[in-house]
Amino acid sequence: PRVAVIVVAAGSGTRLSAGAPKAFVGLDEHTVLRHCLRGVFDARPAQVVVVAPGDRVGEALADAQEAAGERRDLVSVVAGGETRQRSVSAGLEAVWPDVETVLVHDAARALAPGDLVDRVVDAVDRTGWGVVPVLPVIDTIKRVEQDRITGVVDRAELAAAQTPQGFRRDVLEAAYRVARTEYTDDSALVADAGHPIASVAGDARAFKITTPADLARARALVSGAPI
Ligand code: C5P
Repeated sequence: PRVAVIVVAAGSGTRLSAGAPKAFVGLDEHTVLRHCLRGVFDARPAQVVVVAPGDRVGEALADAQEAAGERRDLVSVVAGGETRQRSVSAGLEAVWPDVETVLVHDAARALAPGDLVDRVVDAVDRTGWGVVPVLPVIDTIKRVEQDRITGVVDRAELAAAQTPQGFRRDVLEAAYRVARTEYTDDSALVADAGHPIASVAGDARAFKITTPADLARARALVSGAPI
């Protein structure tokens, strides 16, 4: 299938407090966004749409074109919105007419490898379902009310969701048209619109850079340090 990957990079990154929007922070000589796009291009998509903060569209385009190399014609950059959902919606508008499968990926998952992207594409292709990469939950999870523990949740029933999440393009567009509330991820939005969602194995390298500790870990990983 013809695959487009929407990379959402329009968040402000306030929890990271690294002085720039998260996707534009450097891991080494390259930014979070540039690293993320390396994994994306490894999967040979037909189109890559980067959703950037409104005042950084030019910067994102330069970064993305360098990551794309000879495939720079595949890259589009659009301005994002107030919420992640609006940013995805803006990205969807820019997807070319002949694209059949759309992946939505957080730029903040900078080290997600190309084979994870491939796994999601293959599962969408095989099932027609929405597809979410997941990892088992390691911690014991408690239900809380203020400072009181009110119960345990069986972690065998739980999984931690990552991106890229993949969908048939028609399914994702239809789900975005009917979405009336804010969702934390695209698969929840698509599930609420009545479509089945499958899981595939996630990848530890696809962790989301959110806190300064995550940033330090990502920097250590790209520098090749043992951690
Ligand atoms: O804030 P959070 O870490 O959940 O953001 C996940 C991804 O969504 C990030 O890559 C961020 O840049 C993107 N995002 C966006 N537009 C927003 C908020 C977040 O593109 N308004």
